[in-house]
Amino acid sequence: MGRSGMPAGEMPADGGGWPLQAIWIRGGSPLRGTVEIQGAKNSALKLMAAALLTAEPCVLENVPDIRDVRMMIEILTGLGAEVTREGDQLRIVARELGEETPVEPVREMRAGIQVMGPVVARRGRIRIFQPGGCSLGPRPIDFHLQGLRAMGAQVAEEFGFIRVEAERLRGTDIYLDFPSVGATENLMMAAVLAEGVTVIHNAAREPEIEDAQRFLNQCGARVSGAGTGVIRVEGVEGLRGGRYRVMPDRIETATFLLAGAAAGGDLALRPAPVYCLEAVLSKMTEIGVHWERPDRETLRVWGAGAVEEGYRPARVRALPYPGFPTDVQPPMTALLAMARGTSMVSDEVHSARFGYVGELRRMGADIWTDGRTAVVRGVKRLTGAQVAAADLRGGAALIVAALAAEGESLIEGATHLYRGYARLEERLAGVGARIARVEV
Ligand code: UD1
Repeated sequence: MGRSGMPAGEMPADGGGWPLQAIWIRGGSPLRGTVEIQGAKNSALKLMAAALLTAEPCVLENVPDIRDVRMMIEILTGLGAEVTREGDQLRIVARELGEETPVEPVREMRAGIQVMGPVVARRGRIRIFQPGGCSLGPRPIDFHLQGLRAMGAQVAEEFGFIRVEAERLRGTDIYLDFPSVGATENLMMAAVLAEGVTVIHNAAREPEIEDAQRFLNQCGARVSGAGTGVIRVEGVEGLRGGRYRVMPDRIETATFLLAGAAAGGDLALRPAPVYCLEAVLSKMTEIGVHWERPDRETLRVWGAGAVEEGYRPARVRALPYPGFPTDVQPPMTALLAMARGTSMVSDEVHSARFGYVGELRRMGADIWTDGRTAVVRGVKRLTGAQVAAADLRGGAALIVAALAAEGESLIEGATHLYRGYARLEERLAGVGARIARVEV
């Protein structure tokens, strides 16, 4: 397997400089101890974009050191902002703002388009690489662009780039055909400096959008309704700087919860945003996972693991929040692959999110997919195999499976996992997993 033998802790946190990295796991070790949950990737990235709305310094605390954050730093600096990191804090000062967005990080990370709203609102124009399809489906950005057009912007798509221009955006009523998280946030941020009132109908209700509202309002914006389906933004002339602590990552919490349920042991996760994990926790109860909430910000999961416990099958539908999170669908499917009976999993958010299933099959899973649906026939045990992660959460599914599988697994494409999970091997090894980062 070509193990390098180098302890995970001595490797760069994001896999930088190690293009062909893999994660080696020997399954069957219970996980015991406490995992510290990092700041939410999907909030941090948007707050970083929001910092472009002001020329004053913004300090974000609890920002995870992951590849996506590093790519967003590249985008912000490419636009002329100064970004410095000290521990878990990012200091962002966007005194002057350019209009050309660097291509590479936007090509690699779709969330790069989240700078569009803030830059147009403050600078009046932006030119940004048009994100293409991704491994989860086509993922267009038509809602983002329709909303900006409704606010009076000129939008041109040319030579693979999008150019958006508006002297000053005007508030208006916007209806989203689907409660898109990214469109809601982009338009909400664009509206902060627009003239008049913007109302976003059928807005996404994800908790990270509330995090953005709190930060924006702290900087002087007038946003209300985040967390509901209707968001109202009263435009203001300018924003001040601010300091804000990013909420804990609910997707990371759910991933470790599922890892604990799969591998067994006794695992505590903290600080856990328990209040926004209802859909996941109620599925855990339904299938027979032992969990509790010893205090407001801790989750505990324990038991003999998927093989011994024999969890019950379930019907899981990934939906916009507060429905079951699509980002937890892949690791949940991995757990159900070891349940006693047949589960149905469907994803109503992303059209092609079952790509990882082929890899789970190599580990012995019995899963059949058709479009947005998977039929998961539980098997008694999975077996370790050489598999490849093709995206972040598909990779998380392989980790959950490998931790419970019999024998060794080698998960290639580890870089996808480093996009969203900081020091993954180190943290899992810290609670007893037999895991290492290796070169292939
Ligand atoms: C965000 C999350 C991602 C999560 C997703 C859904 C970040 C950085 N990423 O992605 O982890 O899986 O929410 O919870 O926060 N759509 C359109 N047109 C648009 C915009 C979206 O058709 O203009 C479609 C997409 O193709 C997708 C669905 O709407 O099928 C949901 O996408 P959206 O909510 O926008 O996801 P993102 O914001 O990209």
